[in-house]
Amino acid sequence: MSAPMHTLPGDDYRSEEIFKLECETIFSNEWMYAGREEVLSAPGDRLVVDIGNESVLIVRDKSGQLQAFYNVCRHRGSQLCESSGSGFGGAITCPYHAWSYSLEGTLVATPRVGVDEIDRSQLSLWPVAVDSWQNFIFVCLAAQPTPLMQWLKETPESPLDFEHLDLASLRIAAVTTSEVESNWKILVENYSECLHCPTVHPELVEIIPTYRTGSVVDETRSDGGVAMLAGVTAYAPAGSPDLPIIGGMTELDKESYYGAAVFPNVWFDINASVITTTRLIARSAQHTTIVMEYLVPPETLDDPKYDLSHVIDFTELVTRQDNDICSRAQKGVNSRAFTQGIFAPKDFIAHAFTRYYLERRGPA
Ligand code: FES
Ligand SMILES: [Fe+2]
Repeated sequence: MSAPMHTLPGDDYRSEEIFKLECETIFSNEWMYAGREEVLSAPGDRLVVDIGNESVLIVRDKSGQLQAFYNVCRHRGSQLCESSGSGFGGAITCPYHAWSYSLEGTLVATPRVGVDEIDRSQLSLWPVAVDSWQNFIFVCLAAQPTPLMQWLKETPESPLDFEHLDLASLRIAAVTTSEVESNWKILVENYSECLHCPTVHPELVEIIPTYRTGSVVDETRSDGGVAMLAGVTAYAPAGSPDLPIIGGMTELDKESYYGAAVFPNVWFDINASVITTTRLIARSAQHTTIVMEYLVPPETLDDPKYDLSHVIDFTELVTRQDNDICSRAQKGVNSRAFTQGIFAPKDFIAHAFTRYYLERRGPA
């Protein structure tokens, strides 16, 4: 028997001090998934995202480029925008003293304060790096981030492995949000193993038979995929109506499920007809918001005969099962008795995640 692999120490899952450290060392340095370009279709459209304890404002500027800023007014610091959406016009106006910024972040109007009173040219919004890949928008708070494509290439579960799929054209069919009383790393570890699947997900193991074994991968395959029950092309009960297949799927892809957890805040669940993104917003050491997008080929949305309710109901059921069990794990981990847990050999991906996390975070 090999020596046990240990989880992180208990404090790493429950301490607000550790959470603050993560905000500085991880959430402020890595590229963080923010949403799809589709929600910023016209100049002036806004997307407000929380990254650790920061709020970031992403806008489409007049030339069609993405811009991102700290969501903070340069005057006296008011938060600029509360919500995402369209129809705000061509400027960003602070709700406090009505200073206005162009969509490129330049201070352009300061009511009741003359141009000779302050130097507007020095008071542009504080910029944040923003880029997108296949219409997935990422932001990075680092002053000089690694280029997004290089970062995507180097991340352990690279989504670039799925570049043969027609990801850019996918459209958002639904977005769901849930609040979980759990540390974000407990959620990632849970996603990375399937020892829990037979007990927690009786419905899921019906459509992904490999998961009945407690293994999250199929050892006979080198591509990371696992077989879906014949005829099932989405997270949905067997016998659900057919849905269009995403462009670029190989014959093997059409019968498979693939997952990619892109450190630190998003994972992709890839089925032949539906891809879901699961974005984690770590609010504190013990609270995480989960935002899920259901992405489908355009024809699925364009034709009313396609009904996604069976997919959404099934996926939300699985998500609730995971969220409930992760909240329960958090309660146990909060015990003074929990100094550290162990990973079984089948938990090897969760163990790799904790090693990668420690490398990025550094010592406490
Ligand atoms: S704080 Fe924004 S205009 Fe004064
Ligand atoms: Fe699960």
